[in-house]
Amino acid sequence: MKRSWISIATVYAPMLGVPVLLYLYLAALLLHSDVSSRILLSLIMLGLIVFGVMGFRDVFLENERPANFIELKEGQPKDHGHSVAAEGEGSRTVELLVRRFNPSTGSMDDHTFRTRVHHFSTVLDALIDIKQEQDNTLSMRYSCRMGICGSCAMVVNGKPVLACETNILQNLKEDRIEVSPMQGHPLLKDLVTDFDDFFARHKRIKPHIVRKDEEEKYLAEKEYPQTKEELSRYLPFSYCIMCGLCVDACPVVNVNPRFLGPQALSQVQRYYSDSRDELGGTRLDMVDRLEDVWDCEFAGACSVVCPKGVDPAFAIQLLKSEIVRKDLTGNQKK
Ligand code: SF4
Ligand code: FES
Repeated sequence: MKRSWISIATVYAPMLGVPVLLYLYLAALLLHSDVSSRILLSLIMLGLIVFGVMGFRDVFLENERPANFIELKEGQPKDHGHSVAAEGEGSRTVELLVRRFNPSTGSMDDHTFRTRVHHFSTVLDALIDIKQEQDNTLSMRYSCRMGICGSCAMVVNGKPVLACETNILQNLKEDRIEVSPMQGHPLLKDLVTDFDDFFARHKRIKPHIVRKDEEEKYLAEKEYPQTKEELSRYLPFSYCIMCGLCVDACPVVNVNPRFLGPQALSQVQRYYSDSRDELGGTRLDMVDRLEDVWDCEFAGACSVVCPKGVDPAFAIQLLKSEIVRKDLTGNQKK
């Protein structure tokens, strides 16, 4: 790394100067016999030594910097970690066919982009590169880039996936990959879809623990202990990140938009099977309708595409069996 002459002077001058100053200091001590002059000289010397030690520390830390440390120059834009793959280094050029929704015409427009990717590039990396380097009007939604937030759901080569978890080279078809927005949600722009209705459905099923005593949660000494067995009843269903992929894949949602859908239904089962929840059979009654739980045809596509292994199809079948059990026995909860 190139260093400015100021930083070289700040680091090395004190290092070289310390022995010289030490010599001068000892000579001055011999010449000045009064105490105040000696104290003043000692303080100056101490300051110079501290300055010198800091110089050593700077050199040491610089040598410790990792090989890939990048020093930003003034005015240089920050690299957000998804720059276009450099020539060589195992990178190659691929073609992305992006099917974008045009809100002004209501049509789907096909745009083809070519960009360089490397072994670990995801579809989201490539889209971000395209947005930064080629077309800054390209719109997509993303946040965490690590399969946690659920924002980057889209359709790649016809399959609903999280773009940040989809390796681009492993999904190429003759050096080409097709990207389009999910069709199970209203389209907004390019690859961005509207989740208002999705969140409204989620909210409708009361996605939180309900207790009969509303006030007890404010009591500091109150706990809700659970056994491992009680935890295992709902844990897999609680991994939902609300990406909406299951809804996009569901064939029933696509022909009957009134169907509540796999995400909301799986969360009914999640809270119903939580031993801390006291809403009990009311949760079952909320979805015991044709356009809710009984419209599920158990196609299973929701579970296939779910990136978190929530298995909404299984959750819905558990719900159905609980409703039947409740109707037959009158018992609210096992
Ligand atoms: S159930 Fe799975 S696919 Fe559906 S919203 Fe939750 S995480 Fe996404
Ligand atoms: S960006 Fe968060 S899941 Fe993909």
